Amino acid sequence: MEAKVKRIGVLTSGGDAPGMNAAIRAVVRTAVNLGIECVGIRRGWNGLIHSDFIPMNSDSVSHILDQGGTILYTARSEEFMTPQGREKALATCKLLGLDGIIAIGGDGTFHGALELSRLGIPVVGIPATIDNDLGCSNYTIGFDTACNTAVSCIDKLRDTMQSHERCSLVEVMGRRAGYLALYVGIAVGATAVLIPERGLNFQRDVVERIQESRIAGNTHYMIVVAEGAGSAVEIGKQIHQSLDIEPRVTVLGHIQRGGSPTVRDRETASRMGYAAVQAMAAGNGSCVIGTQQGSLEAIPIEKALTMTKKLQMERYAVMEAMHNHA
Ligand code: F6P
Repeated sequence: MEAKVKRIGVLTSGGDAPGMNAAIRAVVRTAVNLGIECVGIRRGWNGLIHSDFIPMNSDSVSHILDQGGTILYTARSEEFMTPQGREKALATCKLLGLDGIIAIGGDGTFHGALELSRLGIPVVGIPATIDNDLGCSNYTIGFDTACNTAVSCIDKLRDTMQSHERCSLVEVMGRRAGYLALYVGIAVGATAVLIPERGLNFQRDVVERIQESRIAGNTHYMIVVAEGAGSAVEIGKQIHQSLDIEPRVTVLGHIQRGGSPTVRDRETASRMGYAAVQAMAAGNGSCVIGTQQGSLEAIPIEKALTMTKKLQMERYAVMEAMHNHA
């Protein structure tokens, strides 16, 4: 049966996430298998505005499954936020004969997707961000790799903190969400984890945790701070003033966005990329492929953008319960 959709574009937008390349590969190869041509739009929505594209085929996505970053480059486009910018993007879609776009990214990417779909171009979104902060999907591509990267850094840090009997504060990314911090905190056996979902009470969440840990016999403390909960540098200064110990602060930063994707990210990205093209080919454009309890679902973009999810606070209880008590 001849596909109605003949040519699609694929782009990555916003902060990159390990597994984006695996998603691009899945999109391109699924499209090729369905007889749909695929064009790579480079540098996110900017590429659509400025006609920055490359033709793609099965070979163009060879040997990228294990690569971090994105071969299509990425950007946060200010211009696409304006009606004029979106009109230019629409003109590029028409010029290239694109029947739809697959957009891989996070919240900002999907807001852009909604606007473009309102102009008549179907857009299917694939959730990819190390923050895992999208309400429409209980998992986002890149989260697992970022957690593993942070854990491996903190394991190394612990060696020296333990030897010097120090207090270490590690700031991890996550934007306004505490997923990364809490999962990592559980995995490294942190003394305390500070997350925006709980709100910071310095006495309860920091001072008392360190005191309890000391009474239990520990002489080094590992505190994981979600960037959305506050600045690790500032919290370090407060610890110094309150407890007269000299903490060392490490801001992990963009290292968390790099590295070869884990199995979970490669596998999820491959399934999402496949499902995105299937949805587009079936005429179900303008949706986001979210995962709920392990199954993929095509959710209309408008609805996807209104969905919320809550960090399970049972995880916080687990982290606290693992603490060494006197
Ligand atoms: O959304 C991904 C993310 O890495 C956040 O965790 C972080 O707050 C932000 O992007 C950093 O953005 P930039 O790459 O612009 O510094």
